[in-house]
Amino acid sequence: MEIILQPTAEAASRIAARIVARCVRQKPDCVLGLATGSTPLGLYRELIRMHQEEDLDFSGVTTFNLDEYVGLAPECEASYARFMEENLFRHINIPQESTHIPNGRADDIAFACASYENSIRSAGGIDVQVLGVGRDGHIGFNEPTSSLASRTRIKTLTQETREDNARFFDSPKDVPYHAVTMGIQTIMEARKCVLLAFGSAKANAVAKIAEGPIAAMVPGSALQMHQEAFLLADEEAAVGLERKDYYRYVFENKPEWQ
Ligand code: F6R
Repeated sequence: MEIILQPTAEAASRIAARIVARCVRQKPDCVLGLATGSTPLGLYRELIRMHQEEDLDFSGVTTFNLDEYVGLAPECEASYARFMEENLFRHINIPQESTHIPNGRADDIAFACASYENSIRSAGGIDVQVLGVGRDGHIGFNEPTSSLASRTRIKTLTQETREDNARFFDSPKDVPYHAVTMGIQTIMEARKCVLLAFGSAKANAVAKIAEGPIAAMVPGSALQMHQEAFLLADEEAAVGLERKDYYRYVFENKPEWQ
């Protein structure tokens, strides 16, 4: 895992945007895996700026989001479909039919999850997967003890995750108990993973993901087995890392070609 430490979330988001933009420029019909929540907002703002000011073209891009709450209609304010529309899709030139969000309202959720996996496969697989991380180390909504071999399926959210996400709802009791999420194996099959972590609440998870043992108790730690995973953290999220100086030294002394 390549650990890149930056002074601020904005600086880290700009680097993440450069990784995504390079993929879009090199492969205009690339497939992006996207996340929601507070963490990727700076990245999405930067991609929108690149689209507006630097002609970053999303017309051939396909996207798959990590997760969606069970039971929420796409037009519902707290749904991830609405989140993506408001924070990215409506500001760039991506055709609506090229964007995919798991269906949390399907009558047959298991079938919908299998179809989602098939759609990712038919699109050629994910080139770059954007990830945030929960305080408990979850990626997507793969909560602690999720199988490291898991695929898209329904998961029960922990009480901690429901509390953390209550800020997006009118009332904490409105937060759904379940979500449909890509599995850890689904995420691991992306050609590149970019995990963003900002703020002191994420410090414990970041330390465990980067420097702890690989464990289902810390789902993000599976990325240690990924061939091209980046962890981009700001100062506050990095405080628990033992080898901060080494990560900075690596970044500062990168060969030109990297
Ligand atoms: C969202 C997702 C989650 C979030 C995580 C952090 O699509 O997959 O794993 O990335 O819960 O959320 P924030 O960024 O709001 O702290």
